[in-house]
Amino acid sequence: MVEVSDLRYRYPTGKDDVIRGISFAFKRGEIFGFLGPSGAGKSTTQKLLIGILKGFRGQVRYQGKDLGAYGREIYRDIGVGFEVPVHFSKLTAMENLGFYGRLYPQRIDVEPLLKRVGLWDDRNKRVAEFSKGMKVRLNFVRAMLNNPKMLFLDEPTVGLDPQNARIIKDIILEYRQAGGTVFLTTHAMHDADELCDRVAFIADGEIREIDSPMNLKLRFGNRVVNIEYRDRGLERVSFPMDGLADNQDFLGLLRTKVIVTIHSGETTLDDIFIKVTGVRLHA
Ligand SMILES: Nc1ncnc2c1ncn2[C@@H]1O[C@H](COP(=O)(O)OP(=O)(O)OP(=O)(O)O)[C@@H](O)[C@H]1O
Ligand SMILES: [Mg+2]
Repeated sequence: MVEVSDLRYRYPTGKDDVIRGISFAFKRGEIFGFLGPSGAGKSTTQKLLIGILKGFRGQVRYQGKDLGAYGREIYRDIGVGFEVPVHFSKLTAMENLGFYGRLYPQRIDVEPLLKRVGLWDDRNKRVAEFSKGMKVRLNFVRAMLNNPKMLFLDEPTVGLDPQNARIIKDIILEYRQAGGTVFLTTHAMHDADELCDRVAFIADGEIREIDSPMNLKLRFGNRVVNIEYRDRGLERVSFPMDGLADNQDFLGLLRTKVIVTIHSGETTLDDIFIKVTGVRLHA
């Protein structure tokens, strides 16, 4: 669906490249996560992929064709959720959607989606009176307006409460189920783990790792089993995963002690984020 090779970009006002030769590709029906610390170049990359920042070096191909060879028709195919919701604050939610909807030859019936994200009752309220989370949800509905083949979502759940975040994530999963492709930027590692088929970690404009969340966790994790058991106090011990069935110390522990917790040692995407990018998450 999208192939990026040796992409480089410098803002006209900048003196250094902020995107420094990145390459990746993702297929139709895939949710591709783009993860990395603040300032790494995630939003810049999204803007390059959708053609609103021009003058990059390297290559971006969309469905096998160079991005530059497309005209405005590409915007019929893609839905975009920007990092900062852009709405006309003096217009109501419905008027905003109506305005953007008129730009597309094909658009969805917004009623079911507005109901699902909990904005139907507020549809005639001016966006100026919306809370932050309401604006984020409206931004998402707007991205879906043209029934896109592909979605670019820049932090679609930031600022949402867990219940609303769950609804947005479910819609994204259903969208993929129906054949949609998603480029997803997020700081929420748990969401990335749940939603993404593959993720790329970007830091300082360079890609550090690309793989499925599961492979990353296996690669970065230790093949160990960690056990907490009760003895005099709470004791902790680790055993290598390999040869566990014949490990007499392990088996003896299971037979003779009260096990409190037992976990395999695969790591989380949060841990991998820190290892790969060198930056601690504050979220
Ligand atoms: N309009 C701009 N003009 C000049 N430099 C910019 C502009 N927008 C972003 N940058 C710079 O480009 C780099 C990458 O920024 P970008 O917005 O892509 O980061 P990000 O990974 O999306 O970060 P965040 O997680 O904070 O959203 C930063 O160093 C930033 O200062
Ligand atoms: Mg950003």
